Amino acid sequence: MPGVFEVNHPLIRHHLSRLRDKSTPPSEFRTLVQRLSVLLAYEATSDLPTAEDMIETPLTAMTGSQLSQRIGLVPILRAGLGMVDPILNLMPDSEVWHLGLYRDEATAKPIEYYSRLPETDPVHVAMVVDPMLATGGSALAAMEVLKRWGVPEIRLLAIIAAQAGIDAVMEQFSDASIYVCAIDPELNTSRFIVPGLGDAGDRIFNTTPAGNTTPTGD
Ligand code: PRP
Repeated sequence: MPGVFEVNHPLIRHHLSRLRDKSTPPSEFRTLVQRLSVLLAYEATSDLPTAEDMIETPLTAMTGSQLSQRIGLVPILRAGLGMVDPILNLMPDSEVWHLGLYRDEATAKPIEYYSRLPETDPVHVAMVVDPMLATGGSALAAMEVLKRWGVPEIRLLAIIAAQAGIDAVMEQFSDASIYVCAIDPELNTSRFIVPGLGDAGDRIFNTTPAGNTTPTGD
């Protein structure tokens, strides 16, 4: 179902607060990203179609069900990697298609550095995962690649989004769905999400950009 879904749940608010806190160390940050990814994916998969499947329990035969579509998880490197394993645990038959994009610090425009998507036979549903949706530039670049592949349905899962990024994505891809844990009100002049959580990639991988002593990221 197209649209924007801000998942409002006490567990999400609880874990998100720890995630935002600048004193939360990378090891805990990674765990929180995993928990939030599961909660987000639970919502973002709630209308996936299933097909009937005959099974036998130890007691009798019955009709069960199984997911009926090919699903692709598309992490935007680097930070999206932190969301893959927990979602893959929920849908172990998914395909994982990595896209490498980083935001140029001066222009905030996405630079693509890795994509090995095939030219044919697209998945039915692509779930793009990236903890942050700031200007929307990276998500839009990823979605354009997926559209060129021929993916009919794209769902975007982000832990935090800025309203500007959501607007940019929906303007260009009105048939997409966006699932987020929180929509933050603004981008600062450097186009970082405020209040945000800093730079998700740096906090997941315990890296500090050269010359930076405080994480400010998107
Ligand atoms: C961050 C984030 C998104 C992007 C969001 O990645 O993980 O991919 O920026 O910004 P946008 O909506 O304005 O495009 P970053 O470029 O810092 O790369 P990284 O994941 O390697 O740290």
